[in-house]
Amino acid sequence: MKVPVMKSAAQTVKGQAGGKLILIGEHAVVYGQPAIAVPFDCLKVTAEILPTDGPLSIDCRFYSGPVQDAPDLLKGIVQCAEETIRKLDGEPFGIMIRLTSDLPLGRGLGSSAAAACAIVRGLYRYFGKVASHDALMALVNISEVFAHGTPSGLDAEAVASEHAIWFRKGEKPLPIPVAAPMTLVVADSGLKGDTFEAVKSVKTRLQSAPEKMHQSFSRLGELAEEARRALIDGAIEPLGRIFNEAQDELANIGVSHERLDHLIKAAREAGALGAKLTGSGKGGCLFALARDVLEAKKIRAALLEAGACDAWLFTIRKDMLR
Ligand code: PMV
Repeated sequence: MKVPVMKSAAQTVKGQAGGKLILIGEHAVVYGQPAIAVPFDCLKVTAEILPTDGPLSIDCRFYSGPVQDAPDLLKGIVQCAEETIRKLDGEPFGIMIRLTSDLPLGRGLGSSAAAACAIVRGLYRYFGKVASHDALMALVNISEVFAHGTPSGLDAEAVASEHAIWFRKGEKPLPIPVAAPMTLVVADSGLKGDTFEAVKSVKTRLQSAPEKMHQSFSRLGELAEEARRALIDGAIEPLGRIFNEAQDELANIGVSHERLDHLIKAAREAGALGAKLTGSGKGGCLFALARDVLEAKKIRAALLEAGACDAWLFTIRKDMLR
């Protein structure tokens, strides 16, 4: 039996990953359309890997104890951790994973993918190795299957990326060289979304109205192409209009929510160039594109006034867009 060499507390290691923000293409990406996402690295998950003398265990805000007794909510990351240890020729013994996260759960900001990514990175470091990108994606996707059912792979790629990505299911993501920094306000509606249920509801609607749904998916694909062009050209106003139209299509496919609609309207009235939900929807977060930081602060205040439970200013930085 191969057991990792027991390490002293001083040898505790950390793995980290930030969240992600889908700019455009959520849901349509599951059906082969392109999408654009950026790492949302102002909020992070940290996985501390500590030596213990018991079975593999996990310590986080929902549960603390051996992985075999972990609640269903953690099954995805538990399976991801177990498979990572197996891949590293270890045994599920003598290791504790302590997870801390700034990311709200179930808000479309990639908390599950970021947790899995932080765990895989931490475990590789604990075993003195570095995961290749392909190995990291395969392991993170184990956990994503629990969250999504049939993940496109977009969340996993986005949380592991250092720049904006152009993503199509089954293809290698491409970096997008954006011309200028863009300031967004990301706001939490306070409603917990459920990716699995949202993806399922789209599938059900697709069965009952295939023509209309495919029309929306195609339009979302075209809008993603237009958004990519606008990002490369630094064309901020057209980008705002593209986000607004994408929001209309997301409402057409049934994944918006009256609270999101209300907040999106408030952001637009406060001067946002465009605003849309981000992630699987039916709750979760939205973002608004601001002309500059000053405008962004006004939009943030308006969103909080309109009932958002949290809101962050976030700049898609140039160094993120190489
Ligand atoms: O995990 P969320 O809520 O950010 O949504 C993931 C994006 C979807 O397109 C809805 C699903 C997928 O697998 O790409």
